[in-house]
Amino acid sequence: MNDVQTPLKVAAMGDLHVREDNAESYRDLFGEISREADVLVLAGDLTDLGKPREAELLAQDLKACSIPVVGVLGNHDYECGAHEEVARILRDAGMRLLDGQSVEIGGVGFVGVKGFAGGFGRRMLGYFGEPAMKQFVNETMNETLRLENAMRQVRAKRSVVILHYAPVTDTIESEPLEIYPFLGSSRLAETIDRFKVNAIVHGHAHRGRFEGRTPGGQPVYNVAKHIEKPNGKPYAILEV
Ligand SMILES: [Fe+2]
Ligand SMILES: [Fe+2]
Repeated sequence: MNDVQTPLKVAAMGDLHVREDNAESYRDLFGEISREADVLVLAGDLTDLGKPREAELLAQDLKACSIPVVGVLGNHDYECGAHEEVARILRDAGMRLLDGQSVEIGGVGFVGVKGFAGGFGRRMLGYFGEPAMKQFVNETMNETLRLENAMRQVRAKRSVVILHYAPVTDTIESEPLEIYPFLGSSRLAETIDRFKVNAIVHGHAHRGRFEGRTPGGQPVYNVAKHIEKPNGKPYAILEV
Protein backbone atom coordinates (compact mmCIF):
# COMPACT_ATOMS: atom_id res chain seq x y z
CA MET A 1 0.00 0.00 0.00
CA ASN A 2 1.15 3.51 -0.73
CA ASP A 3 1.45 5.90 2.17
CA VAL A 4 2.72 9.48 2.47
CA GLN A 5 6.34 8.29 2.17
CA THR A 6 5.81 6.21 -0.96
CA PRO A 7 5.05 8.27 -4.06
CA LEU A 8 2.35 6.99 -6.38
CA LYS A 9 3.53 6.76 -9.98
CA VAL A 10 0.85 8.33 -12.13
CA ALA A 11 0.98 7.94 -15.91
CA ALA A 12 -1.03 10.70 -17.60
CA MET A 13 -2.07 11.16 -21.21
CA GLY A 14 -4.82 13.04 -23.02
CA ASP A 15 -6.27 13.37 -26.49
CA LEU A 16 -6.14 9.76 -27.64
CA HIS A 17 -8.77 10.55 -30.30
CA VAL A 18 -9.55 6.88 -30.96
CA ARG A 19 -11.15 6.56 -34.40
CA GLU A 20 -13.48 4.02 -35.93
CA ASP A 21 -10.78 2.90 -38.38
CA ASN A 22 -8.69 2.05 -35.31
CA ALA A 23 -5.65 3.43 -37.15
CA GLU A 24 -3.79 3.68 -33.87
CA SER A 25 -4.06 0.94 -31.26
CA TYR A 26 -3.17 1.74 -27.67
CA ARG A 27 -2.92 -1.87 -26.57
CA ASP A 28 0.89 -2.07 -26.47
CA LEU A 29 1.20 1.39 -24.92
CA PHE A 30 -1.28 0.47 -22.15
CA GLY A 31 0.74 -2.68 -21.48
CA GLU A 32 3.93 -0.63 -21.20
CA ILE A 33 2.25 1.94 -18.94
CA SER A 34 1.01 -0.84 -16.64
CA ARG A 35 4.63 -1.85 -16.06
CA GLU A 36 5.79 1.77 -15.57
CA ALA A 37 3.10 3.23 -13.33
CA ASP A 38 0.59 2.56 -10.54
CA VAL A 39 -2.33 4.49 -12.07
CA LEU A 40 -3.24 5.68 -15.58
CA VAL A 41 -4.92 9.07 -15.94
CA LEU A 42 -6.71 9.91 -19.21
CA ALA A 43 -7.41 13.61 -19.73
CA GLY A 44 -10.27 13.59 -22.23
CA ASP A 45 -10.77 13.49 -26.02
CA LEU A 46 -10.64 9.74 -25.58
CA THR A 47 -12.59 9.33 -28.83
CA ASP A 48 -12.33 11.41 -31.99
CA LEU A 49 -16.03 12.04 -32.65
CA GLY A 50 -17.72 10.71 -29.52
CA LYS A 51 -19.03 7.61 -31.33
CA PRO A 52 -19.91 4.55 -29.22
CA ARG A 53 -17.94 2.37 -31.69
CA GLU A 54 -14.81 4.42 -30.98
CA ALA A 55 -15.36 3.96 -27.24
CA GLU A 56 -15.73 0.20 -27.77
CA LEU A 57 -12.36 0.09 -29.54
CA LEU A 58 -10.74 1.98 -26.66
CA ALA A 59 -12.47 -0.33 -24.17
CA GLN A 60 -10.87 -3.31 -25.95
CA ASP A 61 -7.42 -1.71 -25.76
CA LEU A 62 -7.98 -0.94 -22.07
CA LYS A 63 -8.03 -4.71 -21.42
CA ALA A 64 -4.23 -4.52 -21.82
CA CYS A 65 -4.11 -2.10 -18.88
CA SER A 66 -3.67 -3.90 -15.57
CA ILE A 67 -3.54 -0.77 -13.34
CA PRO A 68 -6.49 1.45 -12.31
CA VAL A 69 -7.60 3.92 -15.01
CA VAL A 70 -9.19 7.22 -14.05
CA GLY A 71 -10.08 10.20 -16.21
CA VAL A 72 -12.51 12.63 -17.77
CA LEU A 73 -14.20 13.11 -21.14
CA GLY A 74 -13.22 15.90 -23.53
CA ASN A 75 -15.15 18.04 -26.00
CA HIS A 76 -14.62 15.51 -28.82
CA ASP A 77 -16.37 12.87 -26.72
CA TYR A 78 -19.51 15.04 -26.90
CA GLU A 79 -19.52 15.58 -30.67
CA CYS A 80 -22.13 12.94 -31.61
CA GLY A 81 -24.41 13.65 -28.66
CA ALA A 82 -23.69 10.11 -27.40
CA HIS A 83 -21.41 11.03 -24.49
CA GLU A 84 -23.56 9.11 -22.01
CA GLU A 85 -23.20 5.94 -24.07
CA VAL A 86 -19.46 6.59 -24.49
CA ALA A 87 -19.17 7.03 -20.71
CA ARG A 88 -21.13 3.82 -20.04
CA ILE A 89 -18.90 1.78 -22.36
CA LEU A 90 -15.73 3.10 -20.70
CA ARG A 91 -17.12 2.58 -17.19
CA ASP A 92 -18.09 -0.98 -18.13
CA ALA A 93 -14.47 -1.46 -19.21
CA GLY A 94 -13.42 -0.56 -15.66
CA MET A 95 -12.40 3.06 -16.19
CA ARG A 96 -13.28 5.42 -13.34
CA LEU A 97 -14.72 8.23 -15.37
CA LEU A 98 -15.05 11.40 -13.30
CA ASP A 99 -17.50 14.18 -14.07
CA GLY A 100 -17.47 16.35 -10.97
CA GLN A 101 -16.48 13.60 -8.54
CA SER A 102 -13.38 12.34 -6.76
CA VAL A 103 -11.95 8.90 -6.14
CA GLU A 104 -9.10 7.77 -3.90
CA ILE A 105 -6.51 5.39 -5.35
CA GLY A 106 -3.34 4.38 -3.50
CA GLY A 107 -3.74 7.16 -0.93
CA VAL A 108 -4.15 9.88 -3.59
CA GLY A 109 -7.42 11.69 -4.26
CA PHE A 110 -8.18 12.10 -7.96
CA VAL A 111 -10.63 14.88 -8.81
CA GLY A 112 -12.04 15.06 -12.31
CA VAL A 113 -14.12 17.43 -14.38
CA LYS A 114 -14.00 18.25 -18.09
CA GLY A 115 -13.90 22.01 -17.58
CA PHE A 116 -14.78 24.47 -20.32
CA ALA A 117 -13.50 27.42 -22.34
CA GLY A 118 -13.83 31.13 -21.60
CA GLY A 119 -10.39 32.72 -21.65
CA PHE A 120 -7.78 33.82 -19.21
CA GLY A 121 -6.97 36.48 -16.66
CA ARG A 122 -8.49 39.92 -17.08
CA ARG A 123 -9.36 39.07 -20.70
CA MET A 124 -11.70 36.17 -19.85
CA LEU A 125 -15.23 36.32 -21.23
CA GLY A 126 -17.50 38.24 -18.86
CA TYR A 127 -21.17 37.74 -18.05
CA PHE A 128 -22.49 40.43 -20.40
CA GLY A 129 -24.69 40.91 -23.44
CA GLU A 130 -26.69 38.34 -25.34
CA PRO A 131 -28.23 35.30 -23.64
CA ALA A 132 -25.93 33.04 -25.71
CA MET A 133 -22.85 34.79 -24.29
CA LYS A 134 -24.21 34.47 -20.75
CA GLN A 135 -24.98 30.80 -21.36
CA PHE A 136 -21.37 30.30 -22.44
CA VAL A 137 -20.08 31.89 -19.22
CA ASN A 138 -22.63 29.90 -17.21
CA GLU A 139 -21.21 26.67 -18.62
CA THR A 140 -17.72 27.63 -17.41
CA MET A 141 -19.10 28.60 -14.01
CA ASN A 142 -21.02 25.33 -13.69
CA GLU A 143 -17.89 23.33 -14.40
CA THR A 144 -15.88 25.30 -11.82
CA LEU A 145 -18.60 24.83 -9.18
CA ARG A 146 -18.67 21.09 -9.87
CA LEU A 147 -14.88 21.07 -9.63
CA GLU A 148 -15.07 22.86 -6.28
CA ASN A 149 -17.63 20.39 -4.94
CA ALA A 150 -15.45 17.47 -6.01
CA MET A 151 -12.37 19.00 -4.41
CA ARG A 152 -14.24 19.39 -1.12
CA GLN A 153 -14.88 15.63 -1.10
CA VAL A 154 -11.16 14.75 -1.04
CA ARG A 155 -9.98 13.34 2.28
CA ALA A 156 -6.54 12.14 1.12
CA LYS A 157 -3.48 14.29 1.90
CA ARG A 158 -2.30 14.11 -1.72
CA SER A 159 -4.44 14.96 -4.71
CA VAL A 160 -4.39 15.23 -8.50
CA VAL A 161 -6.85 17.32 -10.52
CA ILE A 162 -7.79 15.94 -13.94
CA LEU A 163 -9.21 18.39 -16.50
CA HIS A 164 -9.61 18.38 -20.24
CA TYR A 165 -9.54 22.17 -20.73
CA ALA A 166 -6.49 24.18 -19.68
CA PRO A 167 -6.58 26.16 -16.42
CA VAL A 168 -3.60 28.40 -17.34
CA THR A 169 -1.91 29.79 -20.46
CA ASP A 170 1.60 28.48 -19.59
CA THR A 171 0.84 25.05 -21.01
CA ILE A 172 -0.94 26.20 -24.19
CA GLU A 173 1.92 28.39 -25.41
CA SER A 174 2.59 27.95 -29.14
CA GLU A 175 -1.11 27.48 -29.87
CA PRO A 176 -2.39 30.45 -31.96
CA LEU A 177 -3.20 33.39 -29.67
CA GLU A 178 -6.60 33.77 -31.38
CA ILE A 179 -7.85 30.44 -29.98
CA TYR A 180 -6.61 30.81 -26.38
CA PRO A 181 -10.13 31.67 -25.13
CA PHE A 182 -11.39 28.33 -26.52
CA LEU A 183 -8.65 26.28 -24.91
CA GLY A 184 -9.56 26.81 -21.28
CA SER A 185 -10.40 29.17 -18.49
CA SER A 186 -8.62 30.85 -15.59
CA ARG A 187 -11.75 30.21 -13.53
CA LEU A 188 -10.60 26.59 -13.22
CA ALA A 189 -7.22 27.67 -11.78
CA GLU A 190 -8.89 30.15 -9.40
CA THR A 191 -10.99 27.32 -7.99
CA ILE A 192 -8.07 24.89 -7.71
CA ASP A 193 -5.89 27.50 -5.98
CA ARG A 194 -8.30 27.57 -3.05
CA PHE A 195 -7.01 24.06 -2.30
CA LYS A 196 -3.57 22.46 -2.05
CA VAL A 197 -2.96 19.87 -4.78
CA ASN A 198 0.06 17.89 -5.96
CA ALA A 199 -0.57 18.09 -9.69
CA ILE A 200 -3.09 19.36 -12.23
CA VAL A 201 -3.21 17.63 -15.61
CA HIS A 202 -5.10 18.65 -18.73
CA GLY A 203 -5.16 18.04 -22.46
CA HIS A 204 -7.14 19.70 -25.30
CA ALA A 205 -4.23 21.89 -26.51
CA HIS A 206 -2.35 19.61 -28.88
CA ARG A 207 0.33 22.25 -29.20
CA GLY A 208 1.73 23.77 -26.07
CA ARG A 209 4.18 23.18 -23.29
CA PHE A 210 4.35 20.29 -20.84
CA GLU A 211 4.77 22.19 -17.62
CA GLY A 212 3.31 25.34 -16.10
CA ARG A 213 2.00 26.79 -12.85
CA THR A 214 -1.25 28.23 -11.56
CA PRO A 215 -1.17 31.82 -10.23
CA GLY A 216 -0.95 30.17 -6.79
CA GLY A 217 2.19 28.27 -7.86
CA GLN A 218 0.70 24.78 -8.21
CA PRO A 219 2.11 22.54 -10.97
CA VAL A 220 0.10 22.13 -14.18
CA TYR A 221 0.93 19.59 -16.89
CA ASN A 222 -0.38 19.47 -20.45
CA VAL A 223 -0.44 15.72 -21.05
CA ALA A 224 -2.00 15.71 -24.54
CA LYS A 225 -0.27 12.83 -26.30
CA HIS A 226 1.11 15.27 -28.91
CA ILE A 227 3.06 17.28 -26.30
CA GLU A 228 6.72 16.46 -25.77
CA LYS A 229 7.23 14.95 -22.31
CA PRO A 230 10.47 14.65 -20.30
CA ASN A 231 10.49 10.86 -20.80
CA GLY A 232 10.06 11.15 -24.58
CA LYS A 233 6.82 9.12 -24.45
CA PRO A 234 3.23 10.12 -25.36
CA TYR A 235 2.40 9.82 -21.66
CA ALA A 236 3.96 11.58 -18.69
CA ILE A 237 4.97 9.94 -15.43
CA LEU A 238 4.26 12.05 -12.37
CA GLU A 239 5.25 10.99 -8.88
CA VAL A 240 2.74 12.28 -6.34
FE1 LIG B 1 -7.91 16.82 -28.47
FE1 LIG C 1 -10.31 18.77 -26.78
